[in-house]
Amino acid sequence: MNIAALPILFLLASVANAKPVVFNILKKYGGKVNEDITLPLTNVWKDACATPGQSKVVVPAGTYRLGPVQLNGPCKGPIELKVRGTLVAPGYLSFFKWGSWVRFERVDQLTLSGNGTFDGQGKSIWGKYNGALPISTGINIIDSKIGTGDDCISLGDGNRDILIQKVTCGPGHGISIGSLGKYENEEPVVGVKVVYCNLINTMNGVRIKTWPASLPGAASNMHFENIYMRNVSNPVIIDQVYCPWNQCKAQIPSKIKISQVSFKNIRGTSQTKEAVKLLCSNEIPCENVEITNIDLAYQGSDGPATSQCTNVNPTISGKQNPPACTLK
Ligand SMILES: *[C@@H]1O[C@H](CO)[C@@H](O)[C@H](O)[C@H]1NC(C)=O
Ligand SMILES: *[C@@H]1O[C@H](CO)[C@@H](O)[C@H](O)[C@H]1NC(C)=O
Repeated sequence: MNIAALPILFLLASVANAKPVVFNILKKYGGKVNEDITLPLTNVWKDACATPGQSKVVVPAGTYRLGPVQLNGPCKGPIELKVRGTLVAPGYLSFFKWGSWVRFERVDQLTLSGNGTFDGQGKSIWGKYNGALPISTGINIIDSKIGTGDDCISLGDGNRDILIQKVTCGPGHGISIGSLGKYENEEPVVGVKVVYCNLINTMNGVRIKTWPASLPGAASNMHFENIYMRNVSNPVIIDQVYCPWNQCKAQIPSKIKISQVSFKNIRGTSQTKEAVKLLCSNEIPCENVEITNIDLAYQGSDGPATSQCTNVNPTISGKQNPPACTLK
């Protein structure tokens, strides 16, 4: 997992029964707030990994500098890294010659948890070194359970060839592409597959969002297939009028072109009446959108579920519950 390359924070939670042996990077391992913990973390990981049974490495609240680390297995039991603090990457490129910042290898039954932050310092690096940049291309996120309270997985501009498979997400905001269109020179998003995923009690299910009054850009070839939703507020949503707290000119259309999108075999329950919303830009409508076999039930007294389509003319096939594009 190359955390530096993805401007995201994803935390994995798991339920453990037996009490783990806890290792704190402070104290005997010599970690200190506001200092570099590359060595303490490396050492504590080695000891925790060599401990039979469950073990847990804790990084307490506070800010720490962290150089490239390899956290390797195989370990003698399930292992958890709980990060409560903020880990800040060095603000220079040299560590990318390692190919990663925080790297887990050959670790089975890994849990990454806590409310902490991996701050890859991406913006500072990308601004200075156009060219040999770390990529985030070709990332697979597979067989994971993610519960953050925020986006489970958030993809941004320049992400290409991303596979998200067998991920269970929730609680949180769901799986999101965007927001796009806020900054200059955003690279297109091309090639995202989200398959065999579960979204449980999330605010959104699968979402593509772009800012109104945006700079030009594109997102294409995004496919969502075999997704189960339970009690999700916006199960299927393209939102090109995304404007939280009125911080943008909502009446000016988005200039991000969305195309080649499919939603296929999506079933479960919606927490709100509007289970499917495809709200595209009225300047650059969405193109080649397909919706196939949608079965999303809404239990509320103001039901049944509806769907809304603006500036999009999707190809519709298979079961459609709610009926496709009930509202224009
Ligand atoms: C995580 O939560 C603890 C309190 O539980 C807080 O002290 C700490 O600052 C939080 N960490 C971050 C990165 O927000
Ligand atoms: C459904 O989700 C809402 C919040 O989105 C939550 O308040 C409610 O408890 C959830 N219902 C169930 C049965 O989990």
